[in-house]
Amino acid sequence: MTTVVDRWNVHPGHRWLRGERPKSPVQFDEELGMWCVYGHPEILEVLSTPEVFTSDTARLLPVSVDPSLIEGDMSQMDPPRHRAFRGLVSRAFTPRLIAGLEPRIAEITDGLIADMDGKSEIELVAELAYPLPVIVIAELLGIPDSDRDLFKKWADNIIEGFSGASFLDDSEQGEQDLRDATDRLQPLLEYLAGHVADRRRNPKQDLLTHLALAEADGERLTDNEVVNVANILLVTGHITTTMLLGNTVLCLDAEPDEFARVRKDRSLVPGAIEEALRTLPPSAALARGTTRQVRLSGQLIPKDQLVQLWLGAANRDPRTFERPGVYDPTRSPNPHFGFGRGIHYCIGAALSQLEGRVALNKLLDRFPVLRTDPDRPPEFFPTADMIGVNSLHLQTS
Ligand code: HEM
Repeated sequence: MTTVVDRWNVHPGHRWLRGERPKSPVQFDEELGMWCVYGHPEILEVLSTPEVFTSDTARLLPVSVDPSLIEGDMSQMDPPRHRAFRGLVSRAFTPRLIAGLEPRIAEITDGLIADMDGKSEIELVAELAYPLPVIVIAELLGIPDSDRDLFKKWADNIIEGFSGASFLDDSEQGEQDLRDATDRLQPLLEYLAGHVADRRRNPKQDLLTHLALAEADGERLTDNEVVNVANILLVTGHITTTMLLGNTVLCLDAEPDEFARVRKDRSLVPGAIEEALRTLPPSAALARGTTRQVRLSGQLIPKDQLVQLWLGAANRDPRTFERPGVYDPTRSPNPHFGFGRGIHYCIGAALSQLEGRVALNKLLDRFPVLRTDPDRPPEFFPTADMIGVNSLHLQTS
């Protein structure tokens, strides 16, 4: 069991973070009203068979999702449409292009760390873990990073709308929760629509222009599709990376011997990040739907069922990981599901790994001491399907 979980009472609902295993790797959860998958081999099977486990889950919700909200959302698509969309977005995330961003990421990090000068305590999220990925993704998209306080306000508001909302509730409450969540999305969508309209008129050298001019299946993307793609890149592109950096520092803080080892031997930094993704995955749950009746680990799941994949539980499956509760930056292999697997594997994985590596190295260079403040405990995002700090106070002396 990792002490970070006990120390800060990370998500009391996630029993597996405390070493408790679900009774069976696949079971129907009466309370959630859907099938839940907790085992590593079982989740691997689900993610490897998109023809049986579709990503087009909105149609299975008892509430009616406005189709315009998911138009262009590749995470909700199945092949062949998924392949076309992913192809045009991934052109902006090739290993070569991402590696080329390192000097700029280092420069932004240096600037943010310079602003911490003379402080005996920093708040890691506000001062580094949030602004760094927002500036990077905003620059890639070509929208002003000076609007980042606006993004934060909107993104926090969107997450708040999802926390505690039940889209599985077929009563008026479910529809009301959905309307509320949709309303919360509007300011960000309208903001992005303004930028998309501008790129149609004035093409620039940025990802937004690339998307506005790109074609999928021989057709230009609609304004709404470009807005939704940009929205996904902006929102998923920063919240999860913010969490990753915070969670990594939190894991290291809870294991002083490992922290000292990583500080001394920086070749362990990538492993420290991967192990944080395993033990505290920012995207803690993924959704799929069954396209036909299917047997998974002996359980017969009917057609058209929602299936929730609990990545945090699978990442601690003792059938796959030795000493699953131990945070070990040297763990190898480490086949965690932090970035998913299969055709929907995270498009931004290399970017967030790079940002995490640069930021952690620079933090360690700058601060010989970094430890959590017992009087100001970290605050976590309130949703059950995300694990990550929203604020993390660190003493630097
Ligand atoms: C630590 C940071 C991140 C984590 C933990 C993370 C996690 C994930 C996971 C688990 C998936 C799989 C979803 C599924 O199978 O349904 C995913 C997909 C995706 N991620 Fe990330 N992500 C991170 C960073 C980023 C960044 C920086 C970007 C973009 C700039 C990004 C963009 C996407 C997109 C567009 C998809 C959908 C891919 C598809 O459907 O083919 N992510 N991410």
